[in-house]
Amino acid sequence: MIKIAPSILAADFGKLVEEVKDVEKAGADLIHVDVMDGHFVPNISFGSIAMDAIRPHTELPLDVHLMIENPDQYIEQFAKAGAAYITVHVEACRHLHRTIQLIRSYGVKPGVVLNPHTPIETIKHVLEDIDMVLFMTVNPGFGGQKFIHSVVPKIKELSDIIKEKNLDVAIEIDGGVNAETIVPCAQAGATIFVAGSAIFGKEDRTAALKAIKEAGEA
Ligand code: DX5
Ligand code: ZN
Repeated sequence: MIKIAPSILAADFGKLVEEVKDVEKAGADLIHVDVMDGHFVPNISFGSIAMDAIRPHTELPLDVHLMIENPDQYIEQFAKAGAAYITVHVEACRHLHRTIQLIRSYGVKPGVVLNPHTPIETIKHVLEDIDMVLFMTVNPGFGGQKFIHSVVPKIKELSDIIKEKNLDVAIEIDGGVNAETIVPCAQAGATIFVAGSAIFGKEDRTAALKAIKEAGEA
């Protein structure tokens, strides 16, 4: 079962609510919310105010990807804005376990994100405490970048560990996902896929979403 999480980073912000409703109708499973602070990544996007705008207009769970320094300071704010998942970068967390506990204390599902070069060893000791691992398949900061294929073996390696330990941890992929790049990632064991430009960049969102999902399920 493949789940698709369109990223509102690629949506038309002049009609954000309509855009979200459109991808919900098209069959999206989650809405991916990309938060960038201009420090952890070389770009600034938006904060929880964007979630306040869309939360009353969609039934879908909000999947909040924090690309920010010092995430602990903002977790309460994103939890209260209605996040279902909050994922934090291992590269930005000095006390990763504490951050995970903080997310869970608000009843939100915690996840950890790895940049393309970051080894899975960095999260080995928190696997039992999280609901999701998000693999970046581009360097975070911008939509529309090219998928980095060298991440695929890492996905497979983690998927094998999760199976072996019989853990309930989902693997999500973010960056350059389309109907081609989803295939090796799904084969390696990923089940949740973020797609920005490959969905919001297309006129017919239903067709775009269906094509990506079917390619992943094939
Ligand atoms: C990148 C973001 C991604 C991005 C995906 O920093 O985390 O979620 O919006 O966009 P595409 O699918 O266009 O690569
Ligand atoms: Zn993201």
